[in-house]
Amino acid sequence: MTTTSDQTAPGGVTAVIVLAAGGGTRMKSKRSKLLHEVAGRPMLSWAVNAARGLNPQHLVVVVGHLREQVEAQLAEDAPDVLTVVQSEQKGTGHAVGCALDSLGELQGEVVVTYGDVPMLNSETLAELVRAHRAAGTLATVLTAEVPDPTGYGRILRNGDHVVGIVEHKDADDAQRRIREINSGIYVFDAAALRHGVSALSNDNAQGEYYLTDVVSMAATGAIRGDDPGLSGVAAHQTDDLWQTEGVNDRVQLSRVNVEMNRRILERWMRDGVTIADPSSTWIEPDVDLAADVTILPGSHLNGATSVESGAVIGPETTLTDCEVGEDTVITRTEATLAVLGDGVRVGPWANLRPGTVLDAGTRIGAFVETKNAHLGAGTSIPRLVYAGDVVVGRDVTIGAGAVFANNDGKSTSTTSVGDGAFVGSNVVVVAPADIGQDAFLAAGSVITEDVPAEALAVARGRGHISAGWAARHQGSRVPSPDSDPRSDSRDHISTPEEHS
Ligand code: UD1
Ligand code: CA
Repeated sequence: MTTTSDQTAPGGVTAVIVLAAGGGTRMKSKRSKLLHEVAGRPMLSWAVNAARGLNPQHLVVVVGHLREQVEAQLAEDAPDVLTVVQSEQKGTGHAVGCALDSLGELQGEVVVTYGDVPMLNSETLAELVRAHRAAGTLATVLTAEVPDPTGYGRILRNGDHVVGIVEHKDADDAQRRIREINSGIYVFDAAALRHGVSALSNDNAQGEYYLTDVVSMAATGAIRGDDPGLSGVAAHQTDDLWQTEGVNDRVQLSRVNVEMNRRILERWMRDGVTIADPSSTWIEPDVDLAADVTILPGSHLNGATSVESGAVIGPETTLTDCEVGEDTVITRTEATLAVLGDGVRVGPWANLRPGTVLDAGTRIGAFVETKNAHLGAGTSIPRLVYAGDVVVGRDVTIGAGAVFANNDGKSTSTTSVGDGAFVGSNVVVVAPADIGQDAFLAAGSVITEDVPAEALAVARGRGHISAGWAARHQGSRVPSPDSDPRSDSRDHISTPEEHS
């Protein structure tokens, strides 16, 4: 999805300036608009990735509004990017001026894009650069013909020549009927851009320094580049309107998300993946699927999840950063950072937390939670278990209600269970403990020490059946330990005095 065209500008461009200082007020968010996500990634990451595809010598992001958040994201995601602060948002032309000031004297091509246009990709930017080179102009603008151009800058033409751009708010009625809009994405000759930006005035409807006025200056010959061979302005029109779609509010955010997802799903379906219900299935861009994977409704595949052939995911299953083997079936399950081998069955209603590794042919049933748990081939946990910090061998059966108690309130310890062992229902294994091969832990036992191979461990109160008890206790049916000492293991509560 973010692949770079092999026909990208030879040697790359001099600079890409990504404008990202604006307020984003229509998002009504404490979070910077640019950090709101499209297909699981901040919008700004899409913009930076697209820019990177042009192989620029300088990659600059102009920040301003909520810039601490934006800078923190860039530091994590793209530390090589130069951030330039535009402390007051005086318009797109002013923003570009701030970037140029910190870059010094440049030559060559400068591309300007926005941080809030997440579907724009490197291929389209590379096409724009190629069109610019072919045209030999001072500027080339990416345009689109849209059904409703309200709000956008309009492209003014004289035949094939662009003669200017007029903002909606400054346009007259005839100009407002023009449906070819300015995407706000351009390639400029560096010298012409520098001259143009320094000559801008804010004498317009919004009192801003408009970058679009630089385009008009280049078109009318008011500014020139270092290379006398370059002149005028070209337009490169795209048919893919989504690529110029900016996100200003959450309605647009959701529209762009839906479209991005639709494209990802379509690509997987063409590659042989069955998706029963595309409208309820969400797949992030870094997911990798083999042919003959089936995805049932309500499923979300996130992060770096990969799924091998023949696997069936869903319905209502969310996998994040998971590896899923061939022919594995996962039903109504949540899994994060889990590795599932071939022929595994999980669900319905399992929760596989980070560090879960399920070897081939394992079974995990309803209401089982695993965390940092490795289950050997053929091991089965049919229902109702917590398995945290445990290494389980092959062909082990773990009964309903078993708990691997891994935390004593302060720290976490690990348990191991040997091949062929049997863990009865409602067994609690208090970590750390090593349970040997073919050991048998009787139902209801609380195991607090190691159990050797092939041993039987029974650790529970001995049962007692009192004949005729009901008749003797017609008043009160609550047995007291004094009147009815039935157990050889009495409960014990340790008081502070005992320890002093
Ligand atoms: C701009 C264009 C318009 C085009 C439209 C496409 C101008 C004058 N107009 O209008 O022709 O059709 O984009 O979406 O350029 N920004 C800054 N600093 C500023 C102002 C803006 O960084 O001082 C950034 C914003 O964060 C945003 C981008 O520039 O990412 C566009 O700004 P915005 O105010 O939305 O421009 P529009 O009025 O939409
Ligand atoms: Ca805008």
